[in-house]
Amino acid sequence: MTVTLAFDVYGTLIDTHGVVSELQGLIGNKAKDFSHTWREKQLEYSFRRGLMQNYEPFSVCTSNALDYTCLFYGVDLTSQQKNNLLECYRSLPAFEDVKIGLEKLKASNYRLFAFSNGTADAVNELLVTAGIRDYFHGVVSVDDIKSFKPNPAVYSHFLRVSEAKGNSAWLISSNPFDVIGAISAGMRAAWVKRSKSSIYDPWGIDPTTTIESLVELHEKLANK
Ligand code: LAC
Repeated sequence: MTVTLAFDVYGTLIDTHGVVSELQGLIGNKAKDFSHTWREKQLEYSFRRGLMQNYEPFSVCTSNALDYTCLFYGVDLTSQQKNNLLECYRSLPAFEDVKIGLEKLKASNYRLFAFSNGTADAVNELLVTAGIRDYFHGVVSVDDIKSFKPNPAVYSHFLRVSEAKGNSAWLISSNPFDVIGAISAGMRAAWVKRSKSSIYDPWGIDPTTTIESLVELHEKLANK
């Protein structure tokens, strides 16, 4: 049976904290905390828009969250500076382990997809810029159904579009909410715990497997 892998994008393949160096030039040593709050708020806004059934593209959540984060830290950025930051968000770097991990999987004939809250255009641009687009069979975006992870409908949508079955389809994600969402919707899921300090939500819905980098994924899947 061919195994299908759905890679989460922001935070799993692509490092959302790649904006920190740009931020440092604007706000100095608050940059790391700022980037963290920005990301948390972006996700919160996506969850809320999903629940409210008031969809806007993920880039709107990102932009609104940037405005919130400026208010939170009392940072007065011009619209030009905000636009520059949002522009950086469209070309963030991949994590170091990504290329080699994808290379191994591709060589073993897994079907690789990128599966994201981002629109297909935004995701394609990120993957091309990061030099990893060619590893993927396709890009599946929640934008097709105007909702966000972890709505079970978006995972079903992924299975439909990729023509995969839940028991042979894995979500690969660093985001615990995404892992729990996928398992709850009938997929298998690997949690990518790159940092020792990452915490998994103690809900009793455990990942099928946990890895520290994408380089380990190939071996873990072979043993499942
Ligand atoms: C994504 C979000 C979860 O790429 O970061 O889907």
